[in-house]
Amino acid sequence: MYRIERAKNALKEGKPILIYDSDNREGETDIVYPATTITPADLFRLRSDGGGLICVAIHPDSADRLGLPFMVDVLQVYSSYSNGGRGKNKFDTVTEKIGDIPYDRKSSFSIWVNHRETFTGITDNDRALTIRKLGEIVKRSMNGNGVNFGDEFRSPGHVAILRAARGLVSERVGQTELSIVMAIMAGITPSMAICEMLDHRTGKALSKKDAIEYGRLNDMPFLEGSEIIDAYNRFKD
Ligand code: 5RP
Ligand code: CA
Repeated sequence: MYRIERAKNALKEGKPILIYDSDNREGETDIVYPATTITPADLFRLRSDGGGLICVAIHPDSADRLGLPFMVDVLQVYSSYSNGGRGKNKFDTVTEKIGDIPYDRKSSFSIWVNHRETFTGITDNDRALTIRKLGEIVKRSMNGNGVNFGDEFRSPGHVAILRAARGLVSERVGQTELSIVMAIMAGITPSMAICEMLDHRTGKALSKKDAIEYGRLNDMPFLEGSEIIDAYNRFKD
């Protein structure tokens, strides 16, 4: 329990934690920051120490209120309409295997966005701004305030949004859901910037052992998916 409390305290202060999913899923560790307070320096750390893809996980209630779909659902619809329902079209090589990922049932990817006050959208300043603004709009949507996503964001852009599964960790146990239940337990906005840690020498996923050591050297709590799920089940009861 001490590890979970330490991680919750870090998140409440806007500090990062490390989340490893499990040995029998991706076997990857993500660096995780609360979206609402992320800075350009934090973004630099995500891309230089993490090195994977920088995404923002959001709560399913907020995704519904903001009108943010799963990308696999968008592609399914596109696939059925793009040829007027008249059989195969030139995009079938992509669309006929929609959602075919080797480590889970369904990808959590939604759309890619830039905040409208960004320029190209890729710089540390621009991505940090987009992520903070995503945190703000998720907060407003969770509080029941009216929101118009398109007024504030463009798509496509340079930050991937991930939709957590409706049943959170009882349905899916990716870093998308694990980071959102950590936000819920910490009492912060359920909008989390995440990025996989890659091994800079081999290009493979950073090993669990090396991720734990990175956490120790940088004072970042390291959590496994199973302990987050246990803590969340206790929290809900
Ligand atoms: C986006 C990903 C990452 O694996 C990320 O950790 C979120 O995905 P998941 O919830 O499937 O673990 O695919 O970079
Ligand atoms: Ca992952």
